[in-house]
Amino acid sequence: MRRKVIAGNWKMNMLPNETINFIEQFAPLVKDTKNEVILCVPFTDLFYALLHVQGTNIKIGAQNMHWEEKGAYTGEVSAQMLKSIGTEYVIIGHSERRQYFAETDETVNKKIKSALAVGLKPIVCVGETLEQRENGKTEEIVTNQVEKAFNNLKAEDLKNIIIAYEPIWAIGTGKTATKEEANETIAQIRKKVAEMYGQNDANEIIIQYGGSVKASNAKELFEMSDIDGGLVGGASLKPDEFSKIVNFDK
Ligand code: PGA
Repeated sequence: MRRKVIAGNWKMNMLPNETINFIEQFAPLVKDTKNEVILCVPFTDLFYALLHVQGTNIKIGAQNMHWEEKGAYTGEVSAQMLKSIGTEYVIIGHSERRQYFAETDETVNKKIKSALAVGLKPIVCVGETLEQRENGKTEEIVTNQVEKAFNNLKAEDLKNIIIAYEPIWAIGTGKTATKEEANETIAQIRKKVAEMYGQNDANEIIIQYGGSVKASNAKELFEMSDIDGGLVGGASLKPDEFSKIVNFDK
C-alpha cells in the first residue's frame, strides 16, 4: 500500500512570524496522522519553518531551486543551499514557474537531477491546460512531461520522487477535476512510469493530485485508487482548513 502524502504549497505568501504562528497552530492538529505532511514555503521562511517543526511530524520543502551547484547566477538558490539547512523536499516545474518563468521540461529534468544529487526529494509537477484537455490531449501532454522530466533517471531514483498531477485549469480557480478525471490521468501517468521502469516501480511511486483541493473535496479525491494525496495551494494557508485535508481519513 502506498502512503498518502499531503503537501502545502504556500506560493508567495506568509512572512516569518506568520509561518511560526501557522506551525504552532497546525502541528497539534496533525500530530496523530499517519499521512506524510509537508509544507513548501518561500525561501525566506525556510529557516524559521525548519526550526519550528523540530519535534513534530511536519516536513519542510522549498518551491524552486537552480540546477547548477554554484556560480554567477544572481538571485538563485542551489539544491545544496536548501539541503544544508535541513530542507527535505523541493517543488520542481510547477505550472506557474513554467508559465511565468520560462521553465521547460529540460530545466525541470536538470533540476530533478541536481536535487537528487544532494539528497533533496523533488515534487515534480505536470499538468495540461484547459484547451489541451478539451482537445483530448491530456494523456499525451502529461506522459510526455513525465518522460522528459525523468530523462536519464535511474529506477532507484523514483523512491525519492513525488509526481504532482495538477491540471492547470484547476489551479487557484476553484474548479477541481472530478475524482474520476484526476484518477484516470494519474493512472495514465502510472502506466507511463511502468513503461519506463516496470510495473513494480510504477506501483510504488507517489502521485498526488493538485488543483483547488479543499477540506470539502479532499476525502473523495484521496480515496481514489491511484491518487496518493495532494499538493494544496490556497487551502494550505489556513491551519484549520489544511489540517482537515491532512486528516481526510479521520
Ligand atoms: P490551489 O493550488 O490549491 O490553490 O489550486 C495548487 C497548486 O498550485 O499547487
